[in-house]
Amino acid sequence: MEELQESKLGSKKFWDDRYKVEMANFQDHGDPGEIWYGEDTVERIIKWMNDTVAKDSKIVDIGCGNGMLLIELAAEGYTNLFGIDYSEDAVTLAKSIALERHFKIDYSICNILEGLKGQFDIIHDKGTYDAITLHANVKEFRRKYLENVRNCLNESGFFMITSGNWTQDELNEHFKNYFVCTDSIPIPQFKFGGKTGGVATSVIYRKL
Ligand SMILES: C[S@@+](CC[C@H](N)C(=O)[O-])C[C@H]1O[C@@H](n2cnc3c(N)ncnc32)[C@H](O)[C@@H]1O
Repeated sequence: MEELQESKLGSKKFWDDRYKVEMANFQDHGDPGEIWYGEDTVERIIKWMNDTVAKDSKIVDIGCGNGMLLIELAAEGYTNLFGIDYSEDAVTLAKSIALERHFKIDYSICNILEGLKGQFDIIHDKGTYDAITLHANVKEFRRKYLENVRNCLNESGFFMITSGNWTQDELNEHFKNYFVCTDSIPIPQFKFGGKTGGVATSVIYRKL
């Protein structure tokens, strides 16, 4: 399997530094920060959720960053929302945004590679697997990521991932011992870290 070239986007320091700046921007002028892969992508994800997922489903966003996807879900009426990120400043920023907008979202600091407590109906990832697979230790990180995601997904739950670095075929290959693809939402082109071009895609999996 061909891997991507290592990039600073695969390091925790990159994200810690970035969210320090984004937190300062939020405090200074209320800017929540980057919407990774754009608003259109978020709209497509929300539409898929609205067509498929009950409003009280237990949903976790892994590597939630500023939490804007969860804010959108809360605004749509989803009530059982969790966000985790390994960057403390990301979690502080996400909590601040949720507080300001009066949404109840449960955020915590957690490295998905070290495991995640709880069982979820929907596990969502937008850009986190992309970041993890830009680390030099990609093979071990991928295995831990997939084991931990599988372990905390309910038997009938969905794992939804949006990637700008990997095609659907590549994701299917990476996940083949853990998950089976059930659906996908193609989205417009985006450029990210190690690779340019290609089409960012949202793919939906169930446990094998
Ligand atoms: C490209 S950003 C995407 C953020 C957010 N999902 C979004 O769509 O706006 C990648 C995120 O993954 C987080 N992250 C990277 N590796 C992680 C890990 N091992 N555990 C938890 N979060 C991680 C980073 O801190 C960052 O917030």
